[in-house]
Amino acid sequence: MSKYQSEITRRRTFAIISHPDAGKTTLTEKFLLYGGAIAQAGQVKGKKNTRAATSDWMEIEKQRGISVTSSVMQFQYEGYCVNILDTPGHQDFSEDTYRTLMAADSAVMVIDAAKGVEAQTRKLFKVCAMRDIPIFTFVNKMDRQARDPFELCEELEKELGIETYPMNWPIGDGKDFQGVYDRENRQIIHFTGHGGAKAATATQVSLGDPGLDELLGPALHTKLSEDVELLDGASAEFDLGKVRHGKLSPVFFGSALTNFGVEPFLEGFLKMTTPPLARMAGEILVDSMEDDFSAFVFKIQANMNKAHRDRIAFMRVVSGRFDAEKEVYHVQGGRKIRLSRPQQLMAAEREIIEEAYAGDIIGVFDPGIFSIGDTLCTPSRKFRFDPIPTFAPEHFRRVRPLDTMKRKQFLKGAEQIAQEGAIQMFKTPYTGMEEIIVGVVGTLQFDVLEYRLKSEYGVDIFMEGLPYEYLRWITADDGEPVKEENLTLGTDTKLVEDFKGRQLLLFGSRWAVNWTQERNPQLTFSEFGGGGD
Ligand code: G4P
Repeated sequence: MSKYQSEITRRRTFAIISHPDAGKTTLTEKFLLYGGAIAQAGQVKGKKNTRAATSDWMEIEKQRGISVTSSVMQFQYEGYCVNILDTPGHQDFSEDTYRTLMAADSAVMVIDAAKGVEAQTRKLFKVCAMRDIPIFTFVNKMDRQARDPFELCEELEKELGIETYPMNWPIGDGKDFQGVYDRENRQIIHFTGHGGAKAATATQVSLGDPGLDELLGPALHTKLSEDVELLDGASAEFDLGKVRHGKLSPVFFGSALTNFGVEPFLEGFLKMTTPPLARMAGEILVDSMEDDFSAFVFKIQANMNKAHRDRIAFMRVVSGRFDAEKEVYHVQGGRKIRLSRPQQLMAAEREIIEEAYAGDIIGVFDPGIFSIGDTLCTPSRKFRFDPIPTFAPEHFRRVRPLDTMKRKQFLKGAEQIAQEGAIQMFKTPYTGMEEIIVGVVGTLQFDVLEYRLKSEYGVDIFMEGLPYEYLRWITADDGEPVKEENLTLGTDTKLVEDFKGRQLLLFGSRWAVNWTQERNPQLTFSEFGGGGD
């Protein structure tokens, strides 16, 4: 058993995912308030002002008042050490968002009760489902007019292909929102008003209490009794094993803004979810309880501090304990190094740390030696974690330097930015003149590319939008490189290569993806690039 067992078992590391405006920031803030990591509301929420004031993010971020990067926060709650990985919401959605999910052991999915499952939730969910990590659902904004809760659960199941288990059940919605029925304790938690910063005021009443008619009103009381009967009869059995393997999502209803149902959710979630999970390194399963330190890089962020032009590599500690005094082995670099200036984020603050345990996320100063997916381990026990997949971009542009004399700097800069994982670059070796095509998951990355090429490499670029929206990595049955003349391709489909020499097809529509697959059965399509060094 690990020397660090008590520290590691109390850790919970999760990502919080949602479609913009579902209430992810509000819920995160309430979690931090419970954990005492922030003292008042507004510290996370006032994205524009506080962030610009407390940290020197990239210029582009300041100009737009948005966060280009996803952040990590740690707080203590009831003996747990909680790490929240925030995933950016709006236009700043990027491949980083997907990669962040690779560092989490579970996910909290926030759904707007009036809207149900939305596009971005669907995308993020897919990435979580790929790893079978536990997914917990918080149906938010019950203080507003909401959709029928049965219908919402059905939609979650149908759209996302996961079973659901309502842990509590809402009583009314909007102005009539009366609270929730806690299924395990068979109690009503009655919502009696906004409780300010820390807790909504709530009282607990049993389902059979004779005063319920008066408390809820006869109509809602009858509806609740009917709903409970239906739920108990119809819904799946609660099965913690299924929850932990991402097959069953516990669903909680509440309202983050008015702070109703947040604490029961946090408590229930922390109890049900897993301590830090093991990771595969080829044939080796690296358990979080091993004494030897290991970690992998899941994100590289450039220029957090403009004055220093530095890069921060974010890594997830997989096993053991990180000790700032000790040397670690950088597998991809093939040498021992000391990680410099390790830091952790507490809400908006960054602080230098001396130690971290399996489950934690640390950011270290990167002099340009790390790449996404790199392994760090103890020199006496070397292995290489399985690579982080490359996710299919959805926006493509042809990019060239305005000044043709600057092609070399352009390629150097773009390749550097691609290596950090901000963009993906493709070549067109199959057509006469070789072109560079850049693909991104979120269009803001084009602006980041343009800005950084100009400010760091002195290159102005010209970008031309391309009509592709889908990408699939391809492999042929015989394992040989694919020749264009042997393929049946439509006019809106293009064969390209990435910088690791893997072949891909770009498509103008989902329809074209299916059409091409049908006509080229010798090809296997993949939405994920499988990583690779
Ligand atoms: P996001 O991070 O998922 O994008 O959502 P965020 O928390 O920023 O919330 C989006 C909007 O929804 C905010 O309002 C927020 O106050 C509101 N909201 C969040 N949770 C609830 C809830 O439980 N009930 C209700 N009624 N509203 C909720 P906004 O007007 O866009 O921003 P702000 O002016 O309040 O900052």
